[in-house]
Amino acid sequence: MPLEIVVGTQWGDEGKGRVVDLLSEQAYISARYNGGDNAGHTVTIVEKIFKLHLIPSGFIHPKNIGVLGNGMVINPATLVEEMEMLKAAGVAVSPERLFISDAAQLITPAHRLLDGAQDAALGKSQIGTTGRGIGPAYVDKAARRGLRTGEILDLDSFKHRLEEHFTVMNHTLRVLYDHPGLDVQKTITEYMEKAILLQPYIRRIGPLVKSALDKGQTVLSEAAQGTLLDLEQGSYPFVTSSCTTAAGVFSGLGLGICPVGRVVGVTKSFQTRVGAGPFPTELFDGDAIALRGTGSNPWDEFGTTTGRPRRVGWLDLVLLRYAIEINGITELFITKMDILSGLKEIPVCVAYRSGAKTFAELERTADAASLEQYTPVYQNLTGWSENLREMRMYQDFPVPARDYIRFIEDQCGVPVRMISVGPERMAVVEKR
Ligand code: GDP
Ligand code: IMO
Ligand code: MG
Repeated sequence: MPLEIVVGTQWGDEGKGRVVDLLSEQAYISARYNGGDNAGHTVTIVEKIFKLHLIPSGFIHPKNIGVLGNGMVINPATLVEEMEMLKAAGVAVSPERLFISDAAQLITPAHRLLDGAQDAALGKSQIGTTGRGIGPAYVDKAARRGLRTGEILDLDSFKHRLEEHFTVMNHTLRVLYDHPGLDVQKTITEYMEKAILLQPYIRRIGPLVKSALDKGQTVLSEAAQGTLLDLEQGSYPFVTSSCTTAAGVFSGLGLGICPVGRVVGVTKSFQTRVGAGPFPTELFDGDAIALRGTGSNPWDEFGTTTGRPRRVGWLDLVLLRYAIEINGITELFITKMDILSGLKEIPVCVAYRSGAKTFAELERTADAASLEQYTPVYQNLTGWSENLREMRMYQDFPVPARDYIRFIEDQCGVPVRMISVGPERMAVVEKR
């Protein structure tokens, strides 16, 4: 099964990092193909917690090769910091095992400033972006004026391009947002200091990935964000600016269409969202605290990248079926099953209601205007009190927990292959 894809089925933070860490043990290449350091993927190995923003989560395995695809937007300062963090933790980081596409886009401090200024100017309609400059960098890409990683290889011309970029961005910041702008020469010097360090890692990555696939080696592609944050299929305009679905793998890695072994949909046992936008099953009462936690545990629902408390709600199977359809998901990996322990009843959204009509499937793409018209229709499942944390065999799960999993399978028509019961690498139950 050479090409494997791991995608989030919700609004991000489903636990993709931990899933990729687990599955990449068998992989040769681990690749990211979209987004940038808006992502925060957590891998927990015994006591050690890695928070990865740009480097694929499989890279922690010593035999994995890491690839950052052309579909990504890369901030050199964040990437260098992440490389240093990994080195300090004993992970080998070298141009022999980490490859950055020469066609990825670069994020600059001006993109970050513009991101903040633009979102603030939206007032009540704010998206609540991560402030990492993602939107402005993808805008520059689409406008065909973006800076690309490959340009770092020619420093004279790169310096000139940075000068142009910061001059134009300063003009925009001043005219549209009354911002004083950046000190161009100082920013260029600082930016180039980090960018130069990436030079040995930059190359064309398509052939590398293709030749691995031709040899039958497994390439594991890790999506950032989640299906409902996809630029086209998500809750537009409350989305990110890239393709977060499985389809993005081919363009995001510079690959031709080829067979895919499996598409693993990572699904949290309940629903979360950071930032603004529709959330039909959102909770605000005591159950919200039970699902979110208070911030005292590392796995509580507070953003990995921004620290913001995540909005929480009951599992939404209408949206999960939608995610399965758009991604071609072949199996589900359910995370955070341990968090549901102690709830007497667990409502699960099985349909939507709008006026007198009930819908099992969405009539329109899951954009904000579409989702806002619905109220959820719930089916209440029985909860369980047992702590699942130490369980490693599916048959050890209490009957209501197994019923919860079976209900998801019956409602969605795809098998649940694995379930995690804690953040740690080994806290996983395989369901045969
Ligand atoms: P990602 O962006 O999809 O990789 O997910 P994040 O890393 O942003 O958020 C997932 C959070 O849940 C992290 O803190 C993980 O350590 C934690 N986590 C993942 N799986 C489980 C699980 O099964 N149980 C618990 N309690 N925490 C988990
Ligand atoms: P991972 O990969 C959760 C959200 C932001 C905001 C919207 C747009 O860790 O699952 P952006 O900065 O991308 O322009 O913000 O998307 N968002 C995420 N939410 N997990 C993420 O990544 C996210 N990346 C972006 O909160 O609502
Ligand atoms: Mg995350």
